[in-house]
Amino acid sequence: MFGNKKKEIPQIDKEQLELIKHAQKRIKQKKGLYTHFILFLIGSIAVIVANLGLHIGETYRPLNIDWFVFVIAFWSIFLIYHAFNVYVIHRFMGDSWQQEQLDILVAKQKAGIEKLKSKLPEVEPVSQTTSIPAIEEKKKLTKKQNLTLIVAASENNAIGKDNQLIWHLRDDLQRFKSLTSGHCIIMGRKTFESFPKPLPNRTHIVVTSQQRYKVPHGVIVVHNLDDALDAALEDKHPYVIGGGEIYKQALPFANKIELTRVHDTFDADTHFPELNLSEWREVQNIYHAKDEENDHAFSFITYERI
Ligand SMILES: NC(=O)c1ccc[n+]([C@@H]2O[C@H](COP(=O)([O-])OP(=O)(O)OC[C@H]3O[C@@H](n4cnc5c(N)ncnc54)[C@H](OP(=O)(O)O)[C@@H]3O)[C@@H](O)[C@H]2O)c1
Repeated sequence: MFGNKKKEIPQIDKEQLELIKHAQKRIKQKKGLYTHFILFLIGSIAVIVANLGLHIGETYRPLNIDWFVFVIAFWSIFLIYHAFNVYVIHRFMGDSWQQEQLDILVAKQKAGIEKLKSKLPEVEPVSQTTSIPAIEEKKKLTKKQNLTLIVAASENNAIGKDNQLIWHLRDDLQRFKSLTSGHCIIMGRKTFESFPKPLPNRTHIVVTSQQRYKVPHGVIVVHNLDDALDAALEDKHPYVIGGGEIYKQALPFANKIELTRVHDTFDADTHFPELNLSEWREVQNIYHAKDEENDHAFSFITYERI
């Protein structure tokens, strides 16, 4: 009952305000032109009277014409320019004209962008929580989707000692040969040096930090794993064949592991990384008992990334 009565604020939208402002501006411009015209009339009469009536500068007649004619002529040009400004430039090329042109331009550009978008292949939307390294990693996994790690590892993940294998398993060597023949094999410099010579019928890609590392003809030398994966892009089924350092770096990019699990434990200086079995599905497991050709019992296990 005794509360303050709120003062009513006139509600006028932005567009109306713009129109009023524009109308006020136009009135001002026209008034200015009108005043100019009146001044021109008075000024013209004044110079005529001064020249012809009061004989001011009567003798000054350039081109044999009275000087007041020049004054009126110049002033007329100025007045015409002023009128042109008010009725043409400000009327047709004013703020609204500029806005109109801008709208046309923006509409054209939007149409261009839409056209380009329609030509682009559909890209999976990136979740706001996905980090840049995760996106990069995913890209690599997509690009190198058939990368396989092939390894023989004991129960304690030992794979080598003094840059040599620790066991002799003929069947494993045969399987290695049949799977990798005709493919790119990516390896670390130390594994490459553990071979007496390059393996036949395979493209060797050797990773080393040494810039002048000498290799036999046909062997590809790269200086990081990413370049190794790129060098193997032509191959639909490249293999990473070790050793420990390279397995560790390549594991996130692999989607398959061909593991020969040697059923024993060994003392070693090089190990295969521990697998996170929640990321891998075992799709094959073939057991081989120890025999004359194979010093230890082993299983050929194939994992695929889940
Ligand atoms: N059981 C199996 O299936 C199996 C398979 C393969 C090997 N192995 C064994 O594994 C052992 C060798 O493994 P390892 O871990 O010692 O050596 P490795 O992985 O074969 O090679 C390591 C070397 O690779 C180069 N390298 C690695 N990452 C690099 C990178 N990001 N950029 C540039 N160069 C890089 C470096 O060479 P530089 O020093 O020249 O820079 C490094 O010294 C041997 O005992 C071998 O017998 C076992």
